[in-house]
Amino acid sequence: MAFLSLLFLFNLLSVAHSQTPQPPRGVLIDCGATVSSVVEGRQWLPDAGFVFAGTPKNLTTANLVPILSTVRSFPLQGNIYRKFCYVVPVFRTGKYLIRTTYFYGGINGKDSPPVFDQIVDGTFWSVVNTTEDYGQGMSSYYEGVFVAQGKTMSVCVAANSYTDSDPFISALEFVLLGDSLYNSTDFSKYGLSLVARHSFGYNGPIIRYPDDLFDRYWEPFGEHNPTIAGVRNVSVSGFWNLPPLKIFQTELTTTLPGPMELHWPLASLPNSSYYIALYFADDHDTSLGSSMMFNISINDVIYYHDLSVTPAGVVVFAKQWPLSGLTKITLAPAAGLNIGPLINAGEVFDLLLLGGRTLTRDVIALERVKNGFQNPPIDWNGDPCLPRQYSWTGVMCSEGPRIRVVALNLTSMGLSGSLSRNIANLTALTGIWLGNNNLSGSIPDLSPLKRLEILHLEDNRLSGEIPPSLGNIESLRELFLKNNNLTGQVPNNLIGKPGLNLMISPGNQFLSPPPS
Ligand SMILES: *[C@@H]1O[C@H](CO)[C@@H](O)[C@H](O)[C@H]1NC(C)=O
Ligand SMILES: *[C@@H]1O[C@H](CO)[C@@H](O)[C@H](O)[C@H]1NC(C)=O
Ligand SMILES: *[C@@H]1O[C@H](CO)[C@@H](O)[C@H](O)[C@H]1NC(C)=O
Ligand SMILES: *[C@@H]1O[C@H](CO)[C@@H](O)[C@H](O)[C@H]1NC(C)=O
Ligand SMILES: *[C@@H]1O[C@H](CO)[C@@H](O)[C@H](O)[C@H]1NC(C)=O
Ligand SMILES: *[C@@H]1O[C@H](CO)[C@@H](O)[C@H](O)[C@H]1NC(C)=O
Ligand SMILES: *[C@@H]1O[C@H](CO)[C@@H](O)[C@H](O)[C@H]1NC(C)=O
Ligand SMILES: *[C@@H]1O[C@H](CO)[C@@H](O)[C@H](O)[C@H]1NC(C)=O
Ligand SMILES: *[C@@H]1O[C@H](CO)[C@@H](O)[C@H](O)[C@H]1NC(C)=O
Ligand SMILES: *[C@@H]1O[C@H](CO)[C@@H](O)[C@H](O)[C@H]1NC(C)=O
Repeated sequence: MAFLSLLFLFNLLSVAHSQTPQPPRGVLIDCGATVSSVVEGRQWLPDAGFVFAGTPKNLTTANLVPILSTVRSFPLQGNIYRKFCYVVPVFRTGKYLIRTTYFYGGINGKDSPPVFDQIVDGTFWSVVNTTEDYGQGMSSYYEGVFVAQGKTMSVCVAANSYTDSDPFISALEFVLLGDSLYNSTDFSKYGLSLVARHSFGYNGPIIRYPDDLFDRYWEPFGEHNPTIAGVRNVSVSGFWNLPPLKIFQTELTTTLPGPMELHWPLASLPNSSYYIALYFADDHDTSLGSSMMFNISINDVIYYHDLSVTPAGVVVFAKQWPLSGLTKITLAPAAGLNIGPLINAGEVFDLLLLGGRTLTRDVIALERVKNGFQNPPIDWNGDPCLPRQYSWTGVMCSEGPRIRVVALNLTSMGLSGSLSRNIANLTALTGIWLGNNNLSGSIPDLSPLKRLEILHLEDNRLSGEIPPSLGNIESLRELFLKNNNLTGQVPNNLIGKPGLNLMISPGNQFLSPPPS
């Protein structure tokens, strides 16, 4: 569910507009590409600055548009890494249309593309299943609307239990939307995940930029319905969602002045709440005085009473409408009206409850700890704790509304580099396991970690003295420092600390012999 296909293979839309509007603002990333390219006046960037995992690959499929001809693929390696994230700079509180595009091209050697998950920040977005589209030689895209909570946003792909070969991605787009778009949605709690966006009675190529100022895709729908489509002359205005005028040039309608039934969207939907927007504009000769009026029902539940449709156009939207299974929209004209109802376009989004975010202070501290390592785990990008099943390797987090990092276990991960003093800002930590790595430098002051119980730094190359402040951590009950290159005196407050399991030898060169 919730994915749409786009025939990208041979027909890039040829657009020859005399007055092309300003291209939408945002970032277009051509995943797996090593050089930037310009497509219809818009620049696509190579992905190297946005992602630190995976391998760029070139597709061998002939006649591909440039954006689909490369992918980045992420080796599964027995699922030791949880997620693979692109991190994109954004304007904080900016509202973004995010679009991911996938075209498999056989890069994993298997005939069929892998099925996997996609994630935005700490929120599970959807399953990516491109099997059917790929079987028809088409790419797949997913679109969502999310508001940036910070200065970056992450979009990640991750293996799920169906994933049988390496996840991949072809393109990633971030387009800044105008403030009024979809503004009935509370974007601090929800994201929108596109289910369908169609221009009714239309059968041309997908309507997008420059017709759509934000490059949303309006797919053709309804050429096969028992309806007519006409070229119309309406002058619409005042739509907060700013749909392209082109969608008002065609319509679905009935020749009979009776109710019209529309089975749309076509897919059977999971039981959830949906944002629905339906667009109308009357093209009849209104000089006769009668305006078009009808009731709208969805699955036989009244959705809007006595809608008056004029040439200026009208949109009717529901911000949380429950749908499940197949959907039927009925447009019933007011009694006595001898013109049939009409509809021009519609959008349906699944309302996605946001998964939350790890406490920002912990995220910043953990980023700095990561920067201290020369070779941090490749999945240390995106949200450290969320979604729950996709936390960073070795990062354990608290439950509840305030999500904090409570333990770090990077035992035997082959880590080089040093232990950043910013680890002391992760004040919810109760355990740190960094044994059997290649860490050098000194042990930072960890005394702000008031809840720390267990500290394992054994079998590294740490040097300098044991910070005496470790003895001030009351909760500390296990301290392993053997096999480093530590020197100086062993602090007395550690040697004498009751209930502390202290292991500091062999392998260090202390001036005072440790207690035996
Ligand atoms: C893909 O093709 C480009 C241009 O032909 C080339 O520069 C790049 O090295 C290729 N990448 C791979 C992974 O083969
Ligand atoms: C993916 O989609 C195909 C075609 O619609 C379907 O047969 C298959 O069961 C789906 N796979 C998963 C794991 O959902
Ligand atoms: C949405 O935007 C329109 C146009 O800017 C504005 O009139 C309206 O009050 C906004 N609605 C909400 C809920 O913010
Ligand atoms: C469209 O309507 C405008 C006035 O609203 C009129 O000037 C124009 O001729 C009309 N165009 C067509 C093709 O009917
Ligand atoms: C959809 O889910 C809601 C609660 O989650 C439930 O009350 C309702 O009966 C479900 N509807 C269908 C058609 O399954
Ligand atoms: C439309 O809704 C109004 C108000 O509920 C009702 O009186 C009218 O009969 C309805 N019209 C049709 C055609 O169902
Ligand atoms: C830490 O990770 C190692 C390696 O994955 C594992 O063997 C060990 O049980 C973990 N320790 C704790 C306390 O979770
Ligand atoms: C981290 O801790 C240092 C002092 O150890 C402090 O100056 C800094 O403000 C802290 N950073 C955050 C993000 O809390
Ligand atoms: C350990 O780190 C040092 C530099 O800090 C590096 O030269 C060495 O190759 C590393 N050893 C391993 C096994 O990674
Ligand atoms: C231990 O530290 C000393 C200096 O403090 C240095 O000369 C030596 O190379 C270090 N040994 C290791 C194994 O890092």
